[in-house]
Amino acid sequence: MKPRGILLAGNWKMNHGPTAAQEFFRALPYSKKPGATMRIYPSFLSLSTALDSVNSAGKEIEIGAQNFHAEKSGAFTGEVSGPMLQEIGIHQVLLGHSERRQYFGETPAVILKKTVSALQQGFEVLLCIGETLAERNAGQTQAVLTHQLESTLADPICAAAFGTSLHLAYEPVWAIGTGMTATPAQAQETHASLRSLLTRTLGQTSADAVQILYGGSVTPSNFAELLACADIDGGLVGGASLKPESFGALWNLIPS
Ligand code: PGA
Repeated sequence: MKPRGILLAGNWKMNHGPTAAQEFFRALPYSKKPGATMRIYPSFLSLSTALDSVNSAGKEIEIGAQNFHAEKSGAFTGEVSGPMLQEIGIHQVLLGHSERRQYFGETPAVILKKTVSALQQGFEVLLCIGETLAERNAGQTQAVLTHQLESTLADPICAAAFGTSLHLAYEPVWAIGTGMTATPAQAQETHASLRSLLTRTLGQTSADAVQILYGGSVTPSNFAELLACADIDGGLVGGASLKPESFGALWNLIPS
């Protein structure tokens, strides 16, 4: 068993309305595994159905939101707040996904504000970071990841939450939805350097408790190798989380 446990998280992005969500959970082969957690981030609209589906089937699957607004209420047309999510029983949120950064203009400052607000409201946050292909080819991977994390590490609320209610997903942007997975060696090297950065800034105990998930074209054919790496504590999965068969196959690859 891994020291930090294993988290298998599915990010459905803008897929699966309530009907498809219900069908997914009905068909998903699931059995409890010690030391491993399964979580799905459906669209806002499918959150209630997802919760009802897992609760009524007695499946211990966590359900989280893909985003939220840092303010608790107000004139923010089209947005969803933390208290609204908590009212329906959601206590997990995914923040900083590269698609939020790229298509919705979320800067490190915006992501920090959301992260702090989420933690203050009692959410558990999975914070995504990752470099583009141009940045990797220019040898800037470390600098980019450090930049994406530095304001979070410097914030006292976030710093105190790392390893308890704040965890990381490393998702190289060039690997998301492209079929180009980072090799286990590339991923492990980056995860290990992220853990050293956490150790330097937060100290060993906190750094050792932070789960660092790998994301980017994770499939049943590469997950076992990734999971075998010392600093990879699970996967954040897009495409392969949409079908119960492939997500179930990923779950079955986690050693009991
Ligand atoms: P992918 O997406 O597995 O389809 O590459 C991962 C993600 O964006 O979280």
